[in-house]
Amino acid sequence: MADLSVMEKLVSLAKRRGFVFQSSEVYGGLGSVWDYGPLGVELKRNVKDRWWQSLVHARDDIEGLDAAILMHPKVWEASGHVAGFTDPMVDCRTCKGRFRADKLEDARCPQKPSKQPGQHSTCDLTEPRLFNLMFKTFMGPVEESASVVYLRPETAQGIYVNYQNVLTSSRQKIPFGIAQIGKAFRNEITPGNFIFRTREFEQMEMQFFVRPGTDDEWFEQWREIRMGWHHALGLAPARLRWHQHSGTELAHYAKAAYDIEYEFPFGWQEIEGIHNRTDFDLGRHQEHSGKKLEYFDQAANDRFLPYVVETSAGADRVTLTTLVDAYREEVVEGETRVVLGFHADIAPVKVAVLPLMKKDGHPELATELYHGLRTRLRAAYDDGGAIGRRYRRQDEIGTPWCVTIDNETIAARTVTVRHRDSMKQDRIGIDHVTGWLTERLGN
Ligand code: GAP
Repeated sequence: MADLSVMEKLVSLAKRRGFVFQSSEVYGGLGSVWDYGPLGVELKRNVKDRWWQSLVHARDDIEGLDAAILMHPKVWEASGHVAGFTDPMVDCRTCKGRFRADKLEDARCPQKPSKQPGQHSTCDLTEPRLFNLMFKTFMGPVEESASVVYLRPETAQGIYVNYQNVLTSSRQKIPFGIAQIGKAFRNEITPGNFIFRTREFEQMEMQFFVRPGTDDEWFEQWREIRMGWHHALGLAPARLRWHQHSGTELAHYAKAAYDIEYEFPFGWQEIEGIHNRTDFDLGRHQEHSGKKLEYFDQAANDRFLPYVVETSAGADRVTLTTLVDAYREEVVEGETRVVLGFHADIAPVKVAVLPLMKKDGHPELATELYHGLRTRLRAAYDDGGAIGRRYRRQDEIGTPWCVTIDNETIAARTVTVRHRDSMKQDRIGIDHVTGWLTERLGN
């Protein structure tokens, strides 16, 4: 049985502790748009940094890119989004609800939540009609069809139209990849599940350009690498699985596709897609722009349009996954302690410095240590309330270590380091704290 109460607790914790807030909350909120608070922005940034590090910095064959959100409208004609980036939608004439016609089983009738739309006696659904998910706006002062531009629904197209610029400026040779992290926008019919499906979100996409014929092999390699990345993020392997797209599920551009799915409290859902996009996108841009996008292989003395293997993850979805995966409740000495057991590398705060008392030289030494630490890593200082309560506050935001300054620190320059997961304490020299922590952190 899915434990949906975990989601409710997580949404409440996220707001209370400053991970995620509803957008424009003072005006009643904007549907399915979310803002990241002080801890959320750190967590999401850590997820994105690890992705960037593993693909762009740790490899010689991938370059980074930051393309603009607004692109020439012809990009979206060529890519097939203007004609085909649609979902089938139905309206209910009774309750005025709108639903995805192909996902009715996942939706609830607003008037009878135990049933799906169409199943309650008063439901009166329209025939499905196609709804384009792209947000439209106008470039310049005149609102006319000639000035329509779109907010990009995926970051990938910015990579395809820059593929030759990157290739020539970086002197890469095929096989090589381009990675990008950026905002994407989709006017989803039924967004929901907190930051899982939203109308504004961030993607972490990498397009790997290969010689046709080698694409199947690269596709398998990238599947393995990407699943390994999620494991290294600390996600429970038992809650990750593959979902292969069957013929009817395959996107218009894909020859093969697998999703990496995570078992959320609301069921198994996609967090990343690995797609063999063939030469579909480059072929379409070549055709629509009239510009040759072929690659000349000097060694083989031949030309070809590269195939693309894409890895496409949602930064918000992966961030939500880290929150869900980390959340646990434990009973300790008769009290429930809530812990976000993040992998230390992505924890928003790495260490909290806690003076045991607000006197006897504790605050002075604690402040000195805290100032030294925060130049190297994200640290917090907390001198409010009983020490046990301070530990609990840090557990709840996932801080892996707490360093406590007490009388022995004054006498012998040693501190206690308390571990979030085991709650065990070690005593180490105050001068070794920075080294001790950086040794345990991967970045
Ligand atoms: N370029 C390929 C592409 O965009 P996709 O499967 O539509 O493929 C890739 O999206 C990833 O982007 C998804 O696995 C998901 O993590 C994220 N994503 C897609 N739509 C989203 C939404 N409405 N809200 C949050 N994340 C979304």
